[in-house]
Amino acid sequence: MSQSQPVAEVAPPSAATDAVLMASEPVPEGTQQVQGVDFEKFKGRDITVAEMVDNMKYMGFQGSAVAEATGIINDMRAYRDAETGAKTTIFLGYTSNLISSGLRDTIRYLVRNRHVSAIVTTAGGVEEDLIKCLAPTYMGSFTAPGAGLRAKGLNRIGNLLVPNSNYCAFEDWLVPILDKMLEEQEAAKKKALETDDEEDELHWTPSRIIKRLGQEINHEDSVLYWAARNDIPIFCPALTDGSLGDMLYFHTFRSSPQRLRIDIVDDVRRINTMAVRAARAGMIILGGGVIKHHIANACLMRNGAEHAVYVNTAQEFDGSDAGARPDEAISWGKIKAGAKSVKVYAEATVVFPLMVAASFARADQPASSADDAVRN
Ligand SMILES: NC(=O)c1ccc[n+]([C@@H]2O[C@H](COP(=O)([O-])OP(=O)(O)OC[C@H]3O[C@@H](n4cnc5c(N)ncnc54)[C@H](O)[C@@H]3O)[C@@H](O)[C@H]2O)c1
Repeated sequence: MSQSQPVAEVAPPSAATDAVLMASEPVPEGTQQVQGVDFEKFKGRDITVAEMVDNMKYMGFQGSAVAEATGIINDMRAYRDAETGAKTTIFLGYTSNLISSGLRDTIRYLVRNRHVSAIVTTAGGVEEDLIKCLAPTYMGSFTAPGAGLRAKGLNRIGNLLVPNSNYCAFEDWLVPILDKMLEEQEAAKKKALETDDEEDELHWTPSRIIKRLGQEINHEDSVLYWAARNDIPIFCPALTDGSLGDMLYFHTFRSSPQRLRIDIVDDVRRINTMAVRAARAGMIILGGGVIKHHIANACLMRNGAEHAVYVNTAQEFDGSDAGARPDEAISWGKIKAGAKSVKVYAEATVVFPLMVAASFARADQPASSADDAVRN
C-alpha cells in the first residue's frame, strides 16, 4: 500500500487573501492626511507652544482635539458683533482642584487680562485661592498613605499637600470678615425698615461674597482679587461645600441669634441674564460636575452657546453630565446645533496651559478678548 503524498501548496487560501487584501474604494478627494509635529522644520531653534499646537491639528486622537479646542477659543476671541462691536461673553468653569494646582496661575492670567467674562467654580475653587495667599500648598505624592498624613495634619489633594494649619489661618482671616458682612446685612435690614424700602436691604449672594473676599485679600497672586478689580463675577452655587461651609456653619453659633443669609436666586438671575444678553456666548469648561452644568444651563436661557470647549477626564457611559459630550448639551438647547464644540479627553493641567499659550497668551493678541459690558 502506497502512502499518500502531501499536495504541494503554491498559493495562500483565497479566502484569507480576499479578507486581508480587500480593495478600498478611493478616499474622497481633499481628505486630510494624518500629520504630526515634524521637528526637522524647527531645527536650530526652539519651537513655540503655539507652533506646536498648530502642528498637532492633524495628529489624531487628543492631539487633534487640543488643536481644535484652541481654534474654537481663537474664534471666540475674534468675534465682534457687526452692529455693536460686542465681543463674545466667555464663561470659564473650573473644578476646585485646579485652583489647588498650579493651573491657578494660568487662570489668574486670564482674569487679570480680562480674557473671560464670568467664572463658575466650586467652594474649593474659591477658598483655595484665598488660602494660597496666606500659606503655600506643597508638592506631595499620590501614594503617601492617608493615616500617616492625618497624624501629621497634612491633607492630600492628588499629589499636592495642604497643611491643616492653612485652614486655621484661613479661619482667622475669614471670621472677622463674616462678622463685618453680618453687621452690614443687619444695618441694611434696619435701614429698610426705617425707609420702608426693600431695595435698601443687603442680600449677600455667593458672587457678592466672593467679590468682597477678593477685595479683602488684596493680593496680586489671587484670582479673586483680579476678578474683583476687573468686575468679573465668580459664581459658586455650592459655596458651602468646602472649608467655607465649615466656617459659615461655625459662624451661625458665633453670631446667634443673628445669621448671615446667602441668596442663591439673585446669582442664578445674574448669570442667566449675562447669557441672555450676550451677543455671542462661549463656554470653556475644565472638569465636570456643578461647574459644567451651571454654565451650560445658563446658556440654555439663550437657546444655546455658540462655542463650547470641554476639557475633562469623565466618560459618558454612566450617563453622567460630567462625562457627556457637547452633542448631549445640543439635545437640551445648551449648545446651538451649528456651534463649534469639542470635548478634549485629557487632564486639564497638561493641556490647558498649551491651549492658553496658543490662544489668549499669543504675543500678537490684544490684552482683553471677552465681553465685559454684559452685567447685571
Ligand atoms: N481642592 C479641592 O479639590 C476641594 C477643596 C475643598 C472642597 N472641595 C469640594 O469638593 C467638591 C467636588 O469638587 P468639584 O465639584 O470641584 O469637582 P471634582 O473634583 O469632583 O471633579 C468633577 C469631575 O471633573 C473632572 N475633573 C476633575 N479634575 C480634572 C482634571 N484635573 N482634568 C480633567 N478633568 C477633571 C472629573 O471628571 C471629575 O469627575 C466641591 O463641592 C468642592 O467645593 C474640593
